[in-house]
Amino acid sequence: MDVIRIKGGIPLKGKVRVSGAKNAALPIMAATLLTDKPCTLHRVPNLSDVRFFGEILQYLGAEVEQIESETWRIRAQHINAKAPYELVRKMRASICLLGSLVGRLRHAEVSLPGGCIIGPRPIDLHLKGLTKLGCEVKIENGYIHVNGNRMTGADIFLGGRFGTTATGTANILMAAVLAPGKTRIESAACEPEIVDLCHMLTAMGAKIEGIGGHALTITGVENLHGCEHHIIADRIETGTFILAGAITGGDITITDSEPNHLRALLDKLEESNIPVTVNENGDINVACDTQNRRPVDIITLPHPGFPTDLQAQMCALLSVTPGLSIITERVFPNRFMHVPELQRMGADIAIEGPSAIIQGKPGLSGAPVMASDLRASAALLLSGLAASGETWIQRIYHLDRGYDKIDAKLQSLGADIARMSVEEMPKDLQAEAV
Ligand code: EPZ
Repeated sequence: MDVIRIKGGIPLKGKVRVSGAKNAALPIMAATLLTDKPCTLHRVPNLSDVRFFGEILQYLGAEVEQIESETWRIRAQHINAKAPYELVRKMRASICLLGSLVGRLRHAEVSLPGGCIIGPRPIDLHLKGLTKLGCEVKIENGYIHVNGNRMTGADIFLGGRFGTTATGTANILMAAVLAPGKTRIESAACEPEIVDLCHMLTAMGAKIEGIGGHALTITGVENLHGCEHHIIADRIETGTFILAGAITGGDITITDSEPNHLRALLDKLEESNIPVTVNENGDINVACDTQNRRPVDIITLPHPGFPTDLQAQMCALLSVTPGLSIITERVFPNRFMHVPELQRMGADIAIEGPSAIIQGKPGLSGAPVMASDLRASAALLLSGLAASGETWIQRIYHLDRGYDKIDAKLQSLGADIARMSVEEMPKDLQAEAV
């Protein structure tokens, strides 16, 4: 088991290129099951979640080949319809298989994903959408059984009590593209990752209108052909690096990314007096003087609102931005696992229901901390980069699920950061962290 040690207080400087988007790559990999022809995917991020998803596709019968470090070739010539519990329980995003299996085979047997640390992860909207498409949906022995033999286009309202559902929209899209007739999805998610999925499905021959909006119209086709697709830049990794530049008072440029996917973050950083500029190539520069930052209030919302996946990282920045800031989490109301660990570093944060009340301080102090989930780990990284002294982060396998070599990328920006085995961690700190 690895740990990361950071010696904080160094302003980051230099250029960094982000990887392809995890949350686009996963549904897009699922979409390769919709055809028996080969699909080639470029800018696939090197993540444990992606490698694991590739293993699941192989288990289902697809040929999966990583032909270059960021290029995968997947051909689902003959596949079966059962995604077992021992695989699905390890990664809830496997729920994305439901729509593609039903679209291709007209039936699916996928284990219920279960919850995760950021909160219960219901799939009622996924199942509602499939039912509306005329599928028979049953839950038995912890598995979702879907019979789509009588599937046909339908009008579906996919909004839930927390707004849109990203993977829910992906699932209904992947079933509907091969369902006879017209399907209209109201209150569809319009995250850039879903737009990227729509572009790939269109390249495979799907007929989708309204891409990028909250209302999608799909006209079913008989079958889909293979494609070659370049996955979009990871906007959450991009945002995490922008915040790394801001929290360390550095001067960094993120290349090959898509600023238009981060308008809500850039707007908030402008309000916080953190100068972020975008050059003619779309490269994003953040050059920040830590003295001038101002506190802000944030509410996370489905896209195009402020992304919940940057909430923890923003919490870290506002913890060292003097003044009162409030972050309200409207997508996953319990998503504050990072707060107790930030408090160990001296952060002054109080949780009131779905809100974090943050009294920003001039600085935090390094400490041994424990990662709990993917984005909470990123928040601990950012705090460690800014804190005085040493921060040791344990259980960084959470980080490796969604960030491709982030420690190496931060090192290239001048951070004093090292990945080592937990045995190399000072024993007293291990005792402390346990
Ligand atoms: C996707 O999860 C992302 N994961 C998450 O990123 C991201 O936080 C989330 O969208 C919101 O943007 C992937 O794309 C693999 P939702 P997803 O369905 O699709 C409720 C990360 O860190 N809901 O959009 O599972 C749900 O409980 C991960 O990269 C229902 O009530 O999220 C939540 O409160 C974490 N019923 C809200 O909707 C449903 O049937 C949004 O969930 C489905 C969802």
